[in-house]
Amino acid sequence: MENTRKPPPVLEVRHLSKAFGGLKVTHDVSFAIPPGELSAIIGPNGAGKTTLFNLITGKLVPDGGEVLFKGERIEGQSPADISRKGIGRSFQITSIFKERTVLENVLVSVLSREKKTARLFRRATAHGDAVREAMEILATLSLEGKAGETAGSLPHGDQKRLDIAVALALNPELVMLDEPVAGMSPEERAITVDLIRKIWKEKALTLLFIEHDMDVVFGISEWIRVLNQGVLLAEGTPAEISRNREVITAYLGEEIVE
Ligand SMILES: Nc1ncnc2c1ncn2[C@@H]1O[C@H](COP(=O)(O)OP(=O)(O)OP(=O)(O)O)[C@@H](O)[C@H]1O
Ligand SMILES: [Mg+2]
Repeated sequence: MENTRKPPPVLEVRHLSKAFGGLKVTHDVSFAIPPGELSAIIGPNGAGKTTLFNLITGKLVPDGGEVLFKGERIEGQSPADISRKGIGRSFQITSIFKERTVLENVLVSVLSREKKTARLFRRATAHGDAVREAMEILATLSLEGKAGETAGSLPHGDQKRLDIAVALALNPELVMLDEPVAGMSPEERAITVDLIRKIWKEKALTLLFIEHDMDVVFGISEWIRVLNQGVLLAEGTPAEISRNREVITAYLGEEIVE
């Protein structure tokens, strides 16, 4: 046979399921994400999008099914172990340390990654390297001018971008963003979307994001997956998804009515 095999997926979920009490929130979900893809997960409120992220990143343990990161089973492992393997994540509600400075937030993330390489007893110069790296990451999100400010004092949009910076500081191969532009003004959205796309390109990341803003989703995604009531309803290119009858009925139609 000819060697036409594609590279193995960065992330694959197989028959993933999760219920809360009697409520099936993730129902036999399977998909695979090839390296370098920029893709979105969309679907109505309560569809199970954040739950899916929680199952992949170790915050929740699935009832059934598998999660594979670069071919290795990771389901059920701790969030810390999974993030060290190379999955960075930002949250629908930001997870930053609000009482610490912007720089400290990113620095903690840089240093936690370094731990893995057993460089626990760092020299002052090495610490300087970490600060420099943290500042570089802040610069990629246009936050370097706010490094000394208390994170909790930043405007909402800056806090959302800081949460992304913290995720990037782990030097992940796969970045998962949960509603990265939610609550932002149109101007902030445009800036943040440009930054996300730039970072994805420059760092050659695989990037997966959840978003309700359809202009953003259809504007930057190479591939879109649609969740509805815990089921993967459809996946495809933006053009395919935008004319998918089931998706229009379950979700996109609502958006137009809104
Ligand atoms: N820890 C939990 N315990 C019980 N029910 C939960 C828990 N987490 C989520 N749920 C329920 O699971 C369903 C899916 O929630 P989830 O947060 O995954 O939805 P979502 O698609 O991210 O929605 P949104 O677009 O509003 O963020 C909802 O009905 C929610 O109330
Ligand atoms: Mg959610």
